[in-house]
Amino acid sequence: MEKILVVGGGAREHAICEAVCRSENVELYSIMHNLNPGIERLSIDYLLADETNVEEVVGYAVDKKIDLVIVGPEAPLEAGLVDALEKKGVKSSSPSKKAAMVETSKEWMRGLMKKYKIPGSVEYGCFSRVRDAKRFIENLGGNVAVKPVGLTGGKGVRVAGDHFRGVEGAVSYAREVIENKIGGVAKVVIEEKLEGEEFTLQAFSDGKMIIPLPAVQDHKRLLPGDRGPNTGGMGSYSCKDGLLPFMNKDDYENASVILQKIVESLRKEGCEYKGVIYGQFMLTADGPKVVEINARFGDPENMNILPLLESDYVEICHAMVEGTLSRQRIRIKNKATVCKYVVPEGYGVKSITDSRIEVDEKGIEETGAKLFYASVNKKGKTIYTTSSRSLAVVGISDDLYDAERICEQGLKHVKGEHIFIRHDIGSRELIEKRIRHMELIRKTVLGAKVDE
Ligand code: AMP
Ligand code: GLY
Repeated sequence: MEKILVVGGGAREHAICEAVCRSENVELYSIMHNLNPGIERLSIDYLLADETNVEEVVGYAVDKKIDLVIVGPEAPLEAGLVDALEKKGVKSSSPSKKAAMVETSKEWMRGLMKKYKIPGSVEYGCFSRVRDAKRFIENLGGNVAVKPVGLTGGKGVRVAGDHFRGVEGAVSYAREVIENKIGGVAKVVIEEKLEGEEFTLQAFSDGKMIIPLPAVQDHKRLLPGDRGPNTGGMGSYSCKDGLLPFMNKDDYENASVILQKIVESLRKEGCEYKGVIYGQFMLTADGPKVVEINARFGDPENMNILPLLESDYVEICHAMVEGTLSRQRIRIKNKATVCKYVVPEGYGVKSITDSRIEVDEKGIEETGAKLFYASVNKKGKTIYTTSSRSLAVVGISDDLYDAERICEQGLKHVKGEHIFIRHDIGSRELIEKRIRHMELIRKTVLGAKVDE
């Protein structure tokens, strides 16, 4: 029996645990900070603990004689969990602290792309003095994205037109980031604002090569029609052909090349990247550009991919550790998926916590939808909201809109007085809007005005 430890208590980790349990001869152990009922059920043993408490996690892994650790979220990577495990001789199919800097330091990631002349880079500057940031913002006419350098759970980024207006608005937020050390560092990244459609490309990496997975589109904004504040992601979809309705094969391949080159550059830097690498891209008139790189599966994007994986996931994890991905043949079902999150009312602003959610698991199963629990707490037999996303429901089918219908049917079996769902995700109306938007963007020649 092989012992696998999964770190993290969200829906992404529930999906990871489920994929692990599809492998033969494995025993699942888990560490999470909330009692996720889905993970609890699949685990032989679990520990409720702070996932960034490296000493405690390593102690548990050693004590239970774990063979392989899979880390779901980024915070334990930043805390150096993988390096500490390695020191004790415990393998992990997640990146080291240094390699994970592609996510944990936006400044470092942008610098790496520049140094190795990796395509898909954007104009950017990194500042610890407001007056320098201001000059840079002025040069770009205020058409910028303002980002804390460190981790903010996807919620610290503000973009011109969406969250503030003009040079003044940009400078004012840049000042806030520096003065309040948002993201933990008194530094801000200013980037040119990219126009286009966003997509996610996740890939397995063994430090030398990558195997890219189907593309996914996440929905970061809280409210229907892409309004409201940025969140960790309200839901996502993927298509049968692995592309997205607004994207062609070349776009996909160009994005894969960017991820491959990032992995190669990390090898040259002496920190091989082992694990899942995640690229958040903006598909612009000029092809895909990197918005951010993450050192893990996306959440929700993982729930679009792992349920479709037919190959043995644990075997893939070993191949990433051993550097033998080239010998793997990865099979993924050709299906469309739609994932929608159920979140506590007020999520993204101020969540209503400790509110009851009733989940009719059998009802969901009968619709054919899949259920992944996220940051809920189970007390006795009842499930309560925390401040984060509660659970995800995924519809899978040959057709995208049928997958959306299945997802919605599944969601009917989730009830709660204080829950919220972005129902427009995967709807025909929203997808067609995305296609039209991308057509418009592609018609744009740099600097020229678009005729609608
Ligand atoms: P991040 O945390 O870097 O993924 O940023 C959160 C969201 O802000 C992204 O998903 C984009 O929607 C938006 N964003 C980030 N950087 C840019 C940029 N340079 N131009 C336009 N939008 C951006
Ligand atoms: N869905 C965005 C992320 O996982 O960072």
